[in-house]
Amino acid sequence: MAVSVREVAALAKVSVGTVSNVMNRPDKVAPDTVERVQAAIRQLGFVRNDAARQLRAGRSRSIGLVVLDVGNPFFTDLARGAEKRAAEAGLTVLLGNSDDDVQRENAYLDLFEEQRVFGILVSPVDDANERLAGLRERGTATVLIDREAGDRSFSSVSVDDPAGGFAAAKHLLERGRRRLAFVGGPASLRQVTDRLAGARRAVAEQAGASLDVIETTALSVLEGRRAGEAILAKPRAERPDAVFAANDLLALGVLQALNMSGGIQVPGDIALIGYDDIAFAAAAVVPLSSIRQPSELIGYTAVDLLLREAAGGAAAEHEQVVFQPELVVRASTGG
Ligand code: RIB
Repeated sequence: MAVSVREVAALAKVSVGTVSNVMNRPDKVAPDTVERVQAAIRQLGFVRNDAARQLRAGRSRSIGLVVLDVGNPFFTDLARGAEKRAAEAGLTVLLGNSDDDVQRENAYLDLFEEQRVFGILVSPVDDANERLAGLRERGTATVLIDREAGDRSFSSVSVDDPAGGFAAAKHLLERGRRRLAFVGGPASLRQVTDRLAGARRAVAEQAGASLDVIETTALSVLEGRRAGEAILAKPRAERPDAVFAANDLLALGVLQALNMSGGIQVPGDIALIGYDDIAFAAAAVVPLSSIRQPSELIGYTAVDLLLREAAGGAAAEHEQVVFQPELVVRASTGG
């Protein structure tokens, strides 16, 4: 049988209202009373039932965050930034992983909406997921992360991925490389197509340069290794002299494959650059050049926008925040 607030009040010899104040506004209660009530809570093993508060308030104090790949440090860093801003507002973050699957994304969106979360942050698998529009129409504040809401129908926080792709390819060209390969996929991900578009623009501006695409089924280390092995299987004269990987996990996989071959030097034979600048990039056996995304700041800013969306209600002005990526040069491109 769950312990009630009344039992805590009786043991601490205070009113039920004082117990509530100790839990919600302890700064308004005398310190010795706070200690007496907290001792009673510990002794009785009382656990607050947030469902009742949630029914009264209409919303929980949690934010639902749906990311594409919880195994990618980019998203764990983003979640850390979101948690920081949420904590400043007295909120918590519930994390869901869509694994690039729309059905899983929708299952989390359903769950968070049913839980009446304070709001939702989502890195969408598919741009055209009507499920997202429904959330806002039914009153759940929603902010897109890692994706710009092109039609301004949502607030969003993202990075200028075409600019990032351009910077990555331009850097390889400035290092004198001319036979570039882009490793990334699936092509259904806007991050992949935007980065490739930027790289194509840089190559088009360089006489004598070419860009081949090695499509992958995911943005993972394993798929990067497969791409690296595909490069090694080519005759030496047909191999690229530089690889731009759509994210650092892919780049680390390519690096593993090339290093394990024993016959290829990075950057001597093939220069390599990734995207995100996760912690493992700098720690790689050949420190990885990358295009840095301010992942924690993206998460922090997304919650900031969500707080404004929730405060503004249906009339809230939607805001698109777009950060600029930053080139980080390390040994894998000769830095
Ligand atoms: O999840 C796919 C990629 O998109 C991540 O590596 C990060 O670059 C994000 O923008």
